[in-house]
Amino acid sequence: MRAALIVASAVFAVTGGLVFKYSGVYEAFAMSPQVPVVPATRRLAQSVAYQAQGLQLPLELETPNNLRSGARLFRDNCVVCHGAPGMPRSESAQQLQPSPPDLLRAGRRNDPAEMFLTIRNGVKTTAMPAFGEILPDEEIWTLAAFLHASRGIAALDFQALSGAGPAKTGG
Ligand code: HEC
Repeated sequence: MRAALIVASAVFAVTGGLVFKYSGVYEAFAMSPQVPVVPATRRLAQSVAYQAQGLQLPLELETPNNLRSGARLFRDNCVVCHGAPGMPRSESAQQLQPSPPDLLRAGRRNDPAEMFLTIRNGVKTTAMPAFGEILPDEEIWTLAAFLHASRGIAALDFQALSGAGPAKTGG
């Protein structure tokens, strides 16, 4: 009797799940509100902080060369979604949900090991791509170094560091 009850409730749970999945009740559109299970960002923070504990950082991380390289890579690969001081996110990136945070805000933590892992592995079910297939680890470390060292950077300093100064004239 007890076993039958367990089987019956298991069947009920599975069919219920399938009905839910295929009925369209759960909409996958970016516009629809997210199902509030655990927000992607909180899941991310927990798993990244855990994995970052055992990670060996490069010995020389925040060197002038690395910061320049990271700034340039950031301008070329990330500003389109995340924006930077003096450079707004693209219009389509402004419609993303969850929305790409301003990574250069002064109050951010930007722990280098956590930045490295997030950039390399991306964030599931969000627009954040895994750059591990796109950039070598050394370049991802320079991005992590830049994001940590340059929190709160001013627009002109970012332009100078990333080599994106105002267009040259008279040439
Ligand atoms: C196509 C858009 C897109 C691009 C390009 C992109 N990101 Fe993201 N990124 C996102 C979104 C969306 C999130 C938010 C994910 C979330 O809320 O969990 C995110 C999250 C992150 C986070 C975690 C934020 C946090 O609060 O801890 C980091 C770090 C990050 N991105 C770094 C980068 C870097 C560095 C690049 C360039 C190499 C980059 N991203 C390129 C869309 C993008």
